[in-house]
Amino acid sequence: MSDNTLREEILKLKEELDVTVVAHFYQKDEVFNIADFTGDSLELAKFSAKDEKANLIFCGVGFMGQSVKILDPNKRVLMPKIACCAMAKMVDIEYYNQNILFLENSGIKKEDIMPVTYINSSAEVKAEVGKMGGYVCTSSNAKLIISKALMSGKKIFFLPDRCLGQNIALNMGLKSCVVGDGNDPKEFDIICYDGFCSVHQLFDIEDIEFYRDKYPDILVITHPECKPEVCKNSDFVGSTSQIQKYIKELPLEQKIVVGTEYNMVNRLRKKNTYILSSTKPECPTMNETRLEDLKEVLLSIKNGSYINEIIISEDTRKYAFKALNRMFKL
Ligand code: 13P
Ligand code: SF4
Repeated sequence: MSDNTLREEILKLKEELDVTVVAHFYQKDEVFNIADFTGDSLELAKFSAKDEKANLIFCGVGFMGQSVKILDPNKRVLMPKIACCAMAKMVDIEYYNQNILFLENSGIKKEDIMPVTYINSSAEVKAEVGKMGGYVCTSSNAKLIISKALMSGKKIFFLPDRCLGQNIALNMGLKSCVVGDGNDPKEFDIICYDGFCSVHQLFDIEDIEFYRDKYPDILVITHPECKPEVCKNSDFVGSTSQIQKYIKELPLEQKIVVGTEYNMVNRLRKKNTYILSSTKPECPTMNETRLEDLKEVLLSIKNGSYINEIIISEDTRKYAFKALNRMFKL
């Protein structure tokens, strides 16, 4: 079936049904262009939780659909693919508790630990964080949330992205270490879990040098999931929305090189834009969602079979909500 026919069928089903379709910036163009609302993880969570339709289809990765369900348990949240963000998969409750135990064995009492989890984590991990009085953050508000969490006077345990944790620490003039790197965690303000994003790890300092040598006036723009040395050598570091806003305000003649996911960069602007890698940095799980999957999930709403519905137990949801809501309150 051609993409055009598929598109028309999807649009028709969307019109017939009580449904809203949202898509993250990293989705393939064909999926992105058919959504009712697009944005970064924070914007999508906020929008979706307020949306009045009974059904929400989230084109993104699993933790994003889960965030909407945590905020609004009465909404039916479905995903064309329950694709799991590789970074979110790096931490589960068992690893989380092992890390807390490691910190306790290093001489930090559990009551002196303030966990802050990046939104890229499962509902179960968010619930553990919620139980300990901790926060959720996104890449657009991590600095604000960490500043607030530091007011508790406790050590920050930041998870799962060690790069985001280290980059925020550098930005705020704080000391950070990574669990298991041989350092004594007691000596540091932010102790990071050893997780990372495989896509943003693709960007290296050599790539920056290559572009700066070739085009001395080029601006280097990266996401804070990139390695600290990459962010330190960038002209601008920001979340997906912040990157878009920054680029929009630049003159079109300004050459830019961007270190974040391919689909988003490719859509930003066609001229004078380079990607900070010799390989195509596509997020494999974000790219799993196809128009065919979107049609399938719409059909399942029509026939009442509701495939790929996000289900979270009330016990997990209630604690995960605490951590997520502490972020929204700020
Ligand atoms: P945003 O929070 O900026 O949307 O990013 C999510 C993400 O997964 C980046 O890799
Ligand atoms: Fe997860 Fe990285 Fe993909 Fe973002 S780009 S969804 S952090 S694997």
